[in-house]
Amino acid sequence: MIQVHDLHRHFGGFRAVDGASLTIETGSITGLIGPNGAGKSTLFNVIAGVLPPTSGRVIMDGEDITGLPPHQLFHKGLLRTFQLAHEFSSMTVRENLMMVPGAQTGETLWNTWFQRARIRNEERALRQKADEVLDFLTISHVADEKAGNLSGGQKKLLELGRTMMVDAKIVFLDEVGAGVNRTLLGTIGDAIVRLNRERGYTFCVIEHDMDFIGRLCDPVIVMAAGKVLAEGPAAHIMENEAVIEAYLGTGLKNKVVETTTGDTA
Ligand SMILES: Nc1ncnc2c1ncn2[C@@H]1O[C@H](COP(=O)(O)OP(=O)(O)OP(=O)(O)O)[C@@H](O)[C@H]1O
Ligand SMILES: [Mg+2]
Repeated sequence: MIQVHDLHRHFGGFRAVDGASLTIETGSITGLIGPNGAGKSTLFNVIAGVLPPTSGRVIMDGEDITGLPPHQLFHKGLLRTFQLAHEFSSMTVRENLMMVPGAQTGETLWNTWFQRARIRNEERALRQKADEVLDFLTISHVADEKAGNLSGGQKKLLELGRTMMVDAKIVFLDEVGAGVNRTLLGTIGDAIVRLNRERGYTFCVIEHDMDFIGRLCDPVIVMAAGKVLAEGPAAHIMENEAVIEAYLGTGLKNKVVETTTGDTA
């Protein structure tokens, strides 16, 4: 679905992404791991149109999408979530879902004036869809809660929920498990697997929790210093000498690699 060819993103003289090439197969849940500062989030930002590349190409289903802005990619079904959740904190959880752009169609003046009944029906349908999403994610009980009051894990689920309000094809998840408790992490993992199997979503998942990666992802791509270092099934990757070396004793084999803070987006 996605092919990245020799992608570079430099910040001044610093090469955050330094000639990365990779493929994300349609229907896969592809993992993206690597030590802090490897360039994972920057790679996501370039693919998702948040940052222009310094050079290189991004192809989606055979079409060159390099440098397209996020809203155009959104309409092509390419969505991303951020390392830190981006909720509208003073709106309810349901309202957060209902206002996902693209989920509603009736917002031009023409429509408001002449098609009130249709809009009412659409709003009802949108609300129903939001409630189905909340049900799917097992957080129906917080539908009327202000999003700002959710726990970290619930906010991550809400981020995932936003991708379900439209017909996503590929979703990029940046550290969806960071700061999330084990139970909610399990729920998030289950939701990802179901979205993949039942709705055909392709995922690319950045995550430092190796249990989570091992359970969900095949293949796993390893980045280090802006380049792709290795790719393969999770079990092979964790045995790979170069990969272990890249983590330099930060504990890849002890499952949980240091979790990070801060988003570069
Ligand atoms: N806007 C920016 N300006 C300058 N340097 C940046 C910028 N964004 C990222 N970097 C640098 O690029 C490198 C890669 O950052 P990036 O956030 O992509 O890493 P990461 O693999 O996502 O790391 P983490 O696992 O800690 O989230 C880091 O050294 C970072 O400091
Ligand atoms: Mg990151």
